[in-house]
Amino acid sequence: MKNLDTVISVVDLKKRFHIKEVLKGVNFSVSKGSIYTLLGSNGAGKTTTIRILTTQIMADSGKVEIGEYDLSNESKKVHEIISLTGQFSAVDEALTGKENLMIMGRLLHISNPEERARELLDYFELSPSSEQLASTYSDRIMPCHFMISLSL
Ligand SMILES: Nc1ncnc2c1ncn2[C@@H]1O[C@H](COP(=O)(O)OP(=O)(O)OP(=O)(O)O)[C@@H](O)[C@H]1O
Ligand SMILES: [Mg+2]
Repeated sequence: MKNLDTVISVVDLKKRFHIKEVLKGVNFSVSKGSIYTLLGSNGAGKTTTIRILTTQIMADSGKVEIGEYDLSNESKKVHEIISLTGQFSAVDEALTGKENLMIMGRLLHISNPEERARELLDYFELSPSSEQLASTYSDRIMPCHFMISLSL
């Protein structure tokens, strides 16, 4: 039986690409409020697993539950409640900090991306640098902008 604290449950997940069996029955669960790390050698199937969990590709079989939703028939609901940050920084250095936040807001389909970006920048006291190109930010300020974009 699934533990009440479980927010991600993966049972017997399988995926093959052509003749290559990549996921051969993966099982794991993640508890609410925890940090979970997927470790594996190159080509082990980590990205494939994440792509399945984030609704980008479909599994061949297995049962995945994210929150209260079953990925196989409620992927749209899953899509609405998850966030994914890339392996590399998703900050576009050719845009300002504020513009980066507004893009995140648009991707999340919020109704007022500019207003929300301004609110967050004020809240985190980053407004003074928000009109500068992200490429000019120091390594210390860059992660701050990146983190804010997640809390949109
Ligand atoms: N779309 C695809 N078509 C064919 N084979 C694929 C596809 N995506 C991944 N693979 C293969 O599946 C296997 C697992 O790939 P995956 O990217 O999930 O591994 P990984 O654990 O994320 O590796 P890395 O540590 O290099 O990021 C690899 O052999 C890869 O070549
Ligand atoms: Mg990978």
